Amino acid sequence: NAMFSWQRTAYHFQPQKNWMNDPDGPLYHMGWYHLFYQYNPDSAVWGNITWGHAVSRDLIHWLYLPFAMVPDQWYDINGVWTGSATILPDGKIVMLYTGDTVDAVQVQNLAYPANLSDPLLLDWVKYPDNPVLIPPIGIAIDEYRDPTTAWLGPDGKWRVTIGSKVNGAGVSLVYKTTNFTTYELLENYLHEVPGTGMWECVDFYPVAINGSTGLDTSVNGPGIKHLLKASLDDTKVDVYALGTYFVNNDTWVPDNPAEDVGLGLKYDYGRYYASKTFYDPKFERRVLWGWINETDTEYEDLAKGWASLQTIPRTVLFDNKTGTNILQWPVEEVESLRLNSTDFEGVVVKPGSVVELNIGTATQLDIFADFEIESLGLEETNEANGGCRGGAVDRSRLGPFGLLVIADETLSELTPIYFRPTNTSDGGLQTYFCADERRSSKANDVFNQVYGSQVPVLDDEKFSMRLLVDHSIVESFAQGGRTVITSRVYPTEAIYGAARLFLFNNATGVNVKATLKIWQLNSAFIHPFPLDQIDTVKP
Ligand code: FRU
Repeated sequence: NAMFSWQRTAYHFQPQKNWMNDPDGPLYHMGWYHLFYQYNPDSAVWGNITWGHAVSRDLIHWLYLPFAMVPDQWYDINGVWTGSATILPDGKIVMLYTGDTVDAVQVQNLAYPANLSDPLLLDWVKYPDNPVLIPPIGIAIDEYRDPTTAWLGPDGKWRVTIGSKVNGAGVSLVYKTTNFTTYELLENYLHEVPGTGMWECVDFYPVAINGSTGLDTSVNGPGIKHLLKASLDDTKVDVYALGTYFVNNDTWVPDNPAEDVGLGLKYDYGRYYASKTFYDPKFERRVLWGWINETDTEYEDLAKGWASLQTIPRTVLFDNKTGTNILQWPVEEVESLRLNSTDFEGVVVKPGSVVELNIGTATQLDIFADFEIESLGLEETNEANGGCRGGAVDRSRLGPFGLLVIADETLSELTPIYFRPTNTSDGGLQTYFCADERRSSKANDVFNQVYGSQVPVLDDEKFSMRLLVDHSIVESFAQGGRTVITSRVYPTEAIYGAARLFLFNNATGVNVKATLKIWQLNSAFIHPFPLDQIDTVKP
């Protein structure tokens, strides 16, 4: 189906057709990265949920494999839902996933590879005595899903946590197990936050306070914080907080209770949900996958024959400069797609102006942009409210300024990605990082709004952003990945060779000086695995 074919991306993971949602059970095995994903084999809307499966050598080029698991048992006949992989010390792989039963009860099931020496892990065995867990007393049968990767405690027992809801509070239950077939439910929740609703796709992992490598899920000790993430079913956002994991009673406490899970930070302020990390032993990093969902109508998704994408995988590190957030950054391998680059040095953008960056077609880009502001010495005026909501046209003394991406020559379609600093009463700056999608498409039935949040900009830092542009997706990273916004846009004019890139400055009181390096990016190779060549697969 060629309808809206220009919205297909060139280097983001998406199936050839039909519906996809959450990433599932990502893992590294014998030289291959494996991605499983919630998939509807029959349609571009959610249903018949099956585990799609793809493999990659480098997290960028992908080969689709046959489905890993299909809904064919009483305990998952309504869907093989989200789950996570645990690699045991002896190399065995344990997959725990939620099944929606014939009676629409959410249960947890165990599966494992039929042949661990197969680098492609083509065949999966569902444990014959599934389910291994059913909703405990006090937990609704439809609010009990998405088991995490397990971690090993000092008592030699594994822990798994599973999100739920109790009296309107988001909670995460903890189970202990030694064999992954029988479990003991702990009395305490790992954590609970009143008013946050059902927690889907909980993720829980350690981050090093000082260090440039990621940590395997069971690592614990001094110099480590733990990150707790939940996907809020009510508002469809991925929220997290950093804190301390107390292994003696398997509870977690946030560093800052005012910024607890769901009250503070989001992984991504754009279209992003149901994310999951895994530990990559090859490069000692923690890698984050996230689902980019659609904002057009189901009718259009059916017409175009597909829905949703996955982000470029991101490494996750603790930000030891701020001490309050993580840094997300596209995996280095995306740089292998770089073609020619163009540099722009100190481009001055005056208040109220737009400057085109002549780089040719602007559909597949890796953009690094630094901005400095030069005061025009004007009187301090009453500052507008800080924040993003007024969009790229909401002018104030110091901003907004940034880039117009996926724009056409006449600016009839454009997506501004920008900074909006404002003076604070104590003489400092408070900066927001935003994406304004409201003019991103002439189509009138797509939902678009202004996204964004505050971003810490430290005293010695310029305003800096990195953008990955891919036809209908923009992943935007501010200040090295402190604040991230994914945009899913639906251009009708700014497509293929008509897509352009501009700088803009809508501040009233400052010139902006921009320095950029912009690479054209190649397309990734994302195709079915040639199964007749399966014998050529070597670890
Ligand atoms: C999150 C989610 C999970 C569930 C899966 C079903 O998007 O609702 O909670 O396991 O999707 O497809």
